[in-house]
Amino acid sequence: MIHFKGGASADSALTPTPADKFSFGLWTVGNSGRDPFGDNTRARLDPNDSVRKLAELGAFGISMHDDDLVPFGSSLHERDEIVGRFKGTLDETGLVVSMATTNLFGHPVFKDGAFTSNDRAVRRYAIAKTMRAIDIGAELGAPTYVFWGGREGVEAMAAKRPADALDRYREAIDFLCGYVLDRKYPMRFAIEPKPNEPRGDTFLPTVGHALAFIGALEHPEMVGLNPETAHETMSGLSFYHAVAQTLWHGKLFHIDLNGQKIGRYDQDLRFGSEGLKDAFFLVKLLEESGYAGPRHFDAHAYRNEDAVGVWDFAAGCMRTYLILRAKARQFAADPEIQAALADSSVAELAKPTVGAYSTESAAALRDAPGDPNALAVRGYGNEHLDQLVMELLMGAR
Ligand code: GCO
Ligand code: MN
Ligand code: MN
Repeated sequence: MIHFKGGASADSALTPTPADKFSFGLWTVGNSGRDPFGDNTRARLDPNDSVRKLAELGAFGISMHDDDLVPFGSSLHERDEIVGRFKGTLDETGLVVSMATTNLFGHPVFKDGAFTSNDRAVRRYAIAKTMRAIDIGAELGAPTYVFWGGREGVEAMAAKRPADALDRYREAIDFLCGYVLDRKYPMRFAIEPKPNEPRGDTFLPTVGHALAFIGALEHPEMVGLNPETAHETMSGLSFYHAVAQTLWHGKLFHIDLNGQKIGRYDQDLRFGSEGLKDAFFLVKLLEESGYAGPRHFDAHAYRNEDAVGVWDFAAGCMRTYLILRAKARQFAADPEIQAALADSSVAELAKPTVGAYSTESAAALRDAPGDPNALAVRGYGNEHLDQLVMELLMGAR
């Protein structure tokens, strides 16, 4: 069915296994090609078939919105039946549900927002829908619950006071933390920032905003981030740096990997197909940081693909990740690159500058003459270092 089989591409280091922790949203491989300008170009996939196919390709996990699995408006009986059958498929394939989330954007009721709609009854409905979806996630064993505020924003600036919206956003997350604690679900929350689309401006637009927001919550220890390549890149920011700071705060609970050109709409391209250098440093970072969570792809096949192309897309995401992981190992083992890192004094940045404050050390430092002109003379060898990185990525090393 898919094109990467046999020959050099069958290299076992590039063949995904569950140990690699790759996962996909049901909505990603299930994407039917519909966009704001045109209809479906592919048939809807049965979630059970997606699970079987992903297991065959070497993935370990699947994620979902409530409505991806249990169609909106299903009865309780239908819900139980669908969830039960899905559990059977998970058992049969060994795939796990690595993350669950709520669709708070698709139905027209959310057109003004969900947790931040000006209509209090809509806000209450959004929290209720989320509790029911959390129950499904818990039943399927999802350790992480994602909050992407697709409709939490505005076009008309006068229409919402941002501070009120943030109060309501916080209230919703605090309440839902309470729910998870009360139900004793072993589950953490991960907020997914995005600058815009579908709203003109979205609340919690970047990783930085979301990290600061977590500090204002009632249970900050339960809440981390689910940063996405496309979303930071849309803002012109480096996803690598966003993830690095998220890790530094101990808040990388989940990640959405894809490909994206700067400044565009959310393209959801195959992982690594744009921004290869950023993708390389990201993979290197994830692998070297000890991040143990899923390598989750939130992307989809091009609209002009058929069913075969969907699995080429999924296999391609995982294969690119594994190629970049191999490159990261090559980076660490390459003596010339290591020498270039030394020339750039990379390790020196890990050394404390002044240590803890004391009156004596402050006085000694303050009165030291220093020699800025002498310190300004050196070069940092960055041209050579970066060229080596590029040559590694281009396959010239
Ligand atoms: C988007 C988002 C979504 C979320 C998903 C899970 O731009 O549409 O990335 O795909 O990740 O709703 O929260
Ligand atoms: Mn996403
Ligand atoms: Mn997205």
